[in-house]
Amino acid sequence: MLFGAPSPRSVAAVTEERPKSPRARLFVALDLPDELREGIAAWGAEALVDPALRPVASDSLHVTLAFLGHRPEEEIEAIAAVVRERGGPAPWVELLDPEPRPPRGRARLYALPALSPGAEALQAGVSEGLAEAGFYEAEKRPFWPHVTVARVRSEGRGSRRPAIVSAPPGKVPARLSEARICRRMTLYRSELQPTGARYVPLAQVQLPG
Ligand code: 2AM
Repeated sequence: MLFGAPSPRSVAAVTEERPKSPRARLFVALDLPDELREGIAAWGAEALVDPALRPVASDSLHVTLAFLGHRPEEEIEAIAAVVRERGGPAPWVELLDPEPRPPRGRARLYALPALSPGAEALQAGVSEGLAEAGFYEAEKRPFWPHVTVARVRSEGRGSRRPAIVSAPPGKVPARLSEARICRRMTLYRSELQPTGARYVPLAQVQLPG
């Protein structure tokens, strides 16, 4: 029969031949020291108060080094091995005042740019290792080290357009821009939930120095 519904037997056979591999949304990040994350959260409690803003929770603040997107779960061990291999010296990070992204038009997020040649070196090594192993396609745009501190809510139900932010965040206090050493790199799984993303650490690398 050409157009009829497939028999239960043929459905089972197809499923068996091509089992659906579960996937995980993965990224590698440089973790910030606890006191810096807490400092950013304390500043954010006063600076990220516009109702259009959704501040990033303190334990989710990080510098993304490589965003892998959805990968088969069975690759996780091998990806973690590359991340461990590519650990380098613990970088210094100096945070700057918040910037909107995109820089013109309605902002979708606010981030603190990070000055950090060490994080750039780490990012180059990790993304090269992941690309060589076939887990990652290097981004065409240059690496922009930053810590996203707030995302902008959509302007209404069903709309993908960000709402207008009337009170954008002002400068960060000097104590937040002091250079800090970051001693850990983590492979995270991002679980998207209605209340926002939850980041689950899958592998952590202590960075020497
Ligand atoms: P962001 O902070 O600039 O938004 C988990 O989602 C992390 O991966 C976030 O820190 C996010 O960066 C980054 N990320 C999400 N989607 C991405 C994409 N398409 N390209 C690059 N980075 C992405």
